[in-house]
Amino acid sequence: MFGNIYKGKKVIVTGNTGFKGSWLTTWLLELGANVVGISDCVPTTPSMFEELKLREKIKYYELDIRNFEQLKEVIVAEKPDFVFHLAAQAIVSTSYSNPLETIQVNAMGTAHVLESLRALTNNCVAIMITSDKCYENVEWCWGYKETDALGGKDIYSASKAAAEVIIHAYQKSFFADENGNVKIAVARAGNVIGGGDWAKDRIVVDCVKSWSNGEVVEIRSPSATRPWQHVLEPLSGYLALGQDISSDNSLHGEAFNFGPRAEQNRTVLELLEDLSKFWHFDNANEAYSVVENRPFNEAGLLKLNCDKALFSMKWQATMNYKSTVSFVSKWYYSFYKEKKNMFDLTIGQIKEYSEMACEQELKWTK
Ligand SMILES: NC(=O)c1ccc[n+]([C@@H]2O[C@H](COP(=O)([O-])OP(=O)(O)OC[C@H]3O[C@@H](n4cnc5c(N)ncnc54)[C@H](O)[C@@H]3O)[C@@H](O)[C@H]2O)c1
Repeated sequence: MFGNIYKGKKVIVTGNTGFKGSWLTTWLLELGANVVGISDCVPTTPSMFEELKLREKIKYYELDIRNFEQLKEVIVAEKPDFVFHLAAQAIVSTSYSNPLETIQVNAMGTAHVLESLRALTNNCVAIMITSDKCYENVEWCWGYKETDALGGKDIYSASKAAAEVIIHAYQKSFFADENGNVKIAVARAGNVIGGGDWAKDRIVVDCVKSWSNGEVVEIRSPSATRPWQHVLEPLSGYLALGQDISSDNSLHGEAFNFGPRAEQNRTVLELLEDLSKFWHFDNANEAYSVVENRPFNEAGLLKLNCDKALFSMKWQATMNYKSTVSFVSKWYYSFYKEKKNMFDLTIGQIKEYSEMACEQELKWTK
């Protein structure tokens, strides 16, 4: 997988205690990498980080990326071969209650990572993770391309667009030399689902928490359509980008969208219907009730055009909607009802996902 490029390499993952960071850490461990995590805390209880006992499997620095001096000291001391920057205030609703903190973490925190990379003397590839929400959402039906305008009507989106502008400026100002020691690329993905997420205000998380307690979940936007994708999809894109940029200078400074297949678009209601089937309810009323109420202004349909990743990296999404739902349900059901070893189960899902990608002969599986 990934040309074995991560085997024995030092890989820093910022935001390693979060949802995506925990999956990425687990996959990197499976690929033989030495993972160094940087996060300010373990953001949820339960957390995938603790449930998989990742603390024992990596080197972990608990620090706030707003603290530039500390961050730089760690990054310079660790001399990473790769950095995946995921640390962020990632919750849209929190960006309404804590706008300044969101901007400080997402925009200035990203600047601090970049400024720390400037101090490195070893070769390093950095993949900067932003979001589909960095695009100015004009609520159209077409997928957003990497060249579309950045922007954001809410603070979370704006903070991610700001991070993008900062990354671009750093790349042009300080890392422009193709033969320089630091190479950077940006990865943009949309809402992801998967086992191990316990962040607030995420619909799947709200459901499995309620269902595990035998409670009915309330749905606020049943007809909202989202391109649901499993967390492993963008992660395969991030890892493939890290591999490709290591050998292909033309990708240096480029941004890439990593989205699901078009057929994955489903309403919230459809998703919940399908997820609830795994929880053996007698009827839907036991699982959810619809409450039409949108407490804050979250953007409508936002689709990514992933032609660039297909063209330049031969990357495309692997899973269909059915297997996505099955992976998510099995993970949470195993956690709540079967009390399985979640590290083994997660590794099992990573292997199953990789086998599906192998069957499709995706380039990163070589
Ligand atoms: N989950 C999604 O659907 C989604 C969609 C698009 C983009 N993203 C982006 O992917 C990345 C990871 O998202 P996630 O869902 O895993 O988020 P998460 O909330 O589960 O995890 C966030 C991580 O960042 C860390 N963090 C937050 N503030 C920090 C600070 N000041 N200093 C150091 N660490 C800090 C947290 O401790 C945690 O490890 C984020 O950049 C997010 O914006 C996520």
